[in-house]
Amino acid sequence: MSKYKIALLDGDGIGPEIMTEAVKVLRLVEQRNDVSFELIHTPFGASAYFECGDPFPEQTKKVCDEADAILKGPIGLNHEDSKKIPVDMQPERGALLPLRRRYNTYANFRPVYLPQGLAHFSPLKKEIIGDGIDIMIIRELVGGLYFGNKETGVNADGIRYVKETLEYDEVQIRRIAKVAFETAMKRKKVLHNIHKSNVLKSSVLWNEIIEETAKDYPEVKVIHILVDAAATYLCLNPGQFDVMVMENMFGDILSDQGGGILGSLGLMPSACLGDTKAYYEPSHGSAPDIAGKNIANPYSMIGSVAMMLEMSFGMDTEAKNVWHAMQSVFAQGYSTPDLSKPGAGVKMIDTQSFGDLVVAELGKLPVG
Ligand code: IPM
Ligand code: MG
Repeated sequence: MSKYKIALLDGDGIGPEIMTEAVKVLRLVEQRNDVSFELIHTPFGASAYFECGDPFPEQTKKVCDEADAILKGPIGLNHEDSKKIPVDMQPERGALLPLRRRYNTYANFRPVYLPQGLAHFSPLKKEIIGDGIDIMIIRELVGGLYFGNKETGVNADGIRYVKETLEYDEVQIRRIAKVAFETAMKRKKVLHNIHKSNVLKSSVLWNEIIEETAKDYPEVKVIHILVDAAATYLCLNPGQFDVMVMENMFGDILSDQGGGILGSLGLMPSACLGDTKAYYEPSHGSAPDIAGKNIANPYSMIGSVAMMLEMSFGMDTEAKNVWHAMQSVFAQGYSTPDLSKPGAGVKMIDTQSFGDLVVAELGKLPVG
């Protein structure tokens, strides 16, 4: 029997509620397969700051260091509550970026997926969606502006200023390029490279490395698109995209747009891979306004479990089963409140019921 230790970072806001549903799925996967999961909850984010004075406490680092994989809920507070925490201890800067840095999780996979049968969730017209949306956004996750040096101050004229650095080297670009080409090889062999080389020198180097890497993958067709144009095409013709690769900030923005064209960020799970450690998280925030109300959509959290099963534990079939179970819940006419307005034909369900229905569907599928 395979045994895996999983660190569970519940996070803030809706984090604990959607984590509970993810754990239900993990427990069923354990029953159905020759595998056992040791699940260790450990504090992370604003809640950890208020509990122990540190958004990424030492005990959490230890649990994560020793874990085979990390499952992380969303973190963060609303604008006003954030001010109760010193700027550098706020959970994004004080916990999430340090987590990414600690494990060098440079490759962020963000699937933007909506089968044709669920096209009604999308704000896009049916004729634009066509056969459905199926894009893999690959975002570089530990470089660029988010990790560069930052400086704030007052200049000689008494004017306040800020300086942030966007830095990449060829090693950082090549490793993510390789991930993108490998992914394209497993899919449709088309790679959209997203850049802004008409303005940014960082994109000029980025594109050079993409072209160099392309020589090792002659079967992959590379299409270069400026990031601003890509934003438009994602709305007008998402079907042209299969795998998209981009630097950190572009990926942050376009992946949220990905959630937009699906109908909700609640449909956006993700995987963050380094060479020796991986963690999995929803792409969205902690939605403090709806926390504790049992109305959040746990799809992104359960989808992150599916990605963990596949990418960390090699359980490809069971991962597909989890996706399938979630899709079939929606296909039966159920919806979570983020995806539909109440009305005729909509069977609105809460967080817990979604988890229960997914578990019931998964239980019906052959283990494979
Ligand atoms: C994401 C989030 C984070 C990011 C925030 C919470 C720091 O928006 O994972 O997309 O910007 O990377
Ligand atoms: Mg984001």
